Amino acid sequence: MKSVLFTRFFILLPWILIVIIMLDVDTRRPATPITPRPYFSPYAVGRGGARLPMRRGRPAHGTEKRNQSRPQPQPEPQLPTIYAITPTYSRPVQKAELTRLANTFRQVAQLHWILVEDAAARSELVSRFLARAGLPSTHLHVPTPRRYKRPGLPRATEQRNAGLAWLRQRHQHQRAQPGVLFFADDDNTYSLELFQEMRTTRKVSVWPVGLVGGRRYERPLVENGKVVGWYTGWRADRPFAIDMAGFAVSLQVILSNPKAVFKRRGSQPGMQESDFLKQITTVEELEPKANNCTKVLVWHTRTEKVNLANEPKYHLDTVKIEV
Ligand code: UGA
Ligand code: MN
Repeated sequence: MKSVLFTRFFILLPWILIVIIMLDVDTRRPATPITPRPYFSPYAVGRGGARLPMRRGRPAHGTEKRNQSRPQPQPEPQLPTIYAITPTYSRPVQKAELTRLANTFRQVAQLHWILVEDAAARSELVSRFLARAGLPSTHLHVPTPRRYKRPGLPRATEQRNAGLAWLRQRHQHQRAQPGVLFFADDDNTYSLELFQEMRTTRKVSVWPVGLVGGRRYERPLVENGKVVGWYTGWRADRPFAIDMAGFAVSLQVILSNPKAVFKRRGSQPGMQESDFLKQITTVEELEPKANNCTKVLVWHTRTEKVNLANEPKYHLDTVKIEV
């Protein structure tokens, strides 16, 4: 009898040990975070930090009383969303440009990408690309009328307006959430620091742009924290001598000026920025960023036209590859 008990005990022992170990491991597992942090941000702390807001639910019943004597956790102030409006059009380098842009944007917290194709319909290339980009995004399209597709005429007017219309429609019924709008052409180069700077835009903020206007850079001239003029080599008579990449506008300003759009009529190349900014602000009101406009954080780079001289007229390869 005794030996039977002993044998049973030794058969059961390893199972008991396994159960104990499993229970122990389970209780040590860290709790899943309330809000996952989907995007890496190198500027998680500090000025205008890019930390994602934690959405805390109401405390469960019974926990309120226990916490009364402790300081209540303050909800983190909501990080303004950066809306980047990017006009884009089909050409051999399009996917390469969008890839560079997405690689930058993916590192910026709370950014919503509004990609507007200059086309009669959404292309498969861009749709597939956005689906895999890992970014909160909106995919729009509007074709530029043929008569405006000529050298010397402003580009992407209809596409930027489509982005503005989407923003206004999305926010028409709700109190404006904190947000900042920025026009991000698909071929420029953006530092991550730029997004940190523009995030604190109250109305309209400005900063220098590199490699533009026939100079190494253009910049707003600042005295006592106010913009007093422009350093530029091209058409210094422009009311706002600034490139599209040199300013950001708060969502509030976009919503309270519902008629402010980019205009085709009477608009000359290089005047789109001035024509638009005139409708929503004054030079005196501008908020200088990037250390009083002394740092270049964005570059007006342009990709050279690719050489496809040896591309065969008819498809020769055994596979079809998207480039
Ligand atoms: C300069 C300014 O930096 C632009 O902001 C301005 O829109 C443009 O001039 C203009 O001529 O209106 P630039 O480098 O000469 O820029 O222009 P692109 O980079 O060729 O075009 C600006 C944006 O519009 C790009 O995102 C591009 O993809 C898009 N685009 C261009 C279209 O959607 N359709 C086009 O036919 C051409
Ligand atoms: Mn460009």
